[in-house]
Amino acid sequence: MNECIESVEDYWDKRFKDEGKIWGELPSRTTQYAFELFRSANVKSVLIPGSGYGRHTKFFSTCGFDVTGIEISSVACNLAREFDPLSRFYNASVFDLSFDTNRYDAIYCFNVLHLFRENDRYVFIQQCDNKLNKGGLMFFTVFSEK
Ligand SMILES: C[S@@+](CC[C@H](N)C(=O)[O-])C[C@H]1O[C@@H](n2cnc3c(N)ncnc32)[C@H](O)[C@@H]1O
Repeated sequence: MNECIESVEDYWDKRFKDEGKIWGELPSRTTQYAFELFRSANVKSVLIPGSGYGRHTKFFSTCGFDVTGIEISSVACNLAREFDPLSRFYNASVFDLSFDTNRYDAIYCFNVLHLFRENDRYVFIQQCDNKLNKGGLMFFTVFSEK
């Protein structure tokens, strides 16, 4: 029997096509913690991996940060470009960020890390670390069983 395995891109494209702005237009309240932290550290630029349709990029870009989103779903990227014209979006995987030569003062990543298997989490965090300016900050949220 042939098993049909959906790619990650296809899975997320379908979800965003069918459900649109799945989690609403408002950012998570964790953005408030990140905002205070970033502001006190004089952060200017923020990278948002797995940026979806831009509800968090929009929060940070509206606050005046220079914001870049990385997102594997082209459907989500198109929604994001419309929803948050102030940010730039790359349609790419967070596992290879070498195409982007910029470095950032901070990373905000909401509910993406836990999607990956253990080894991929290390690769992802390493990719993120490579994108930071010296002394840069990383702010991640994940689901927990606890
Ligand atoms: C649970 S959603 C969270 C979206 C967004 N952070 C939010 O809260 O609105 C996970 C997001 O990560 C994206 N994603 C999953 N795997 C990815 C990968 N390898 N590279 C880039 N984005 C990825 C999905 O397309 C989806 O937009």
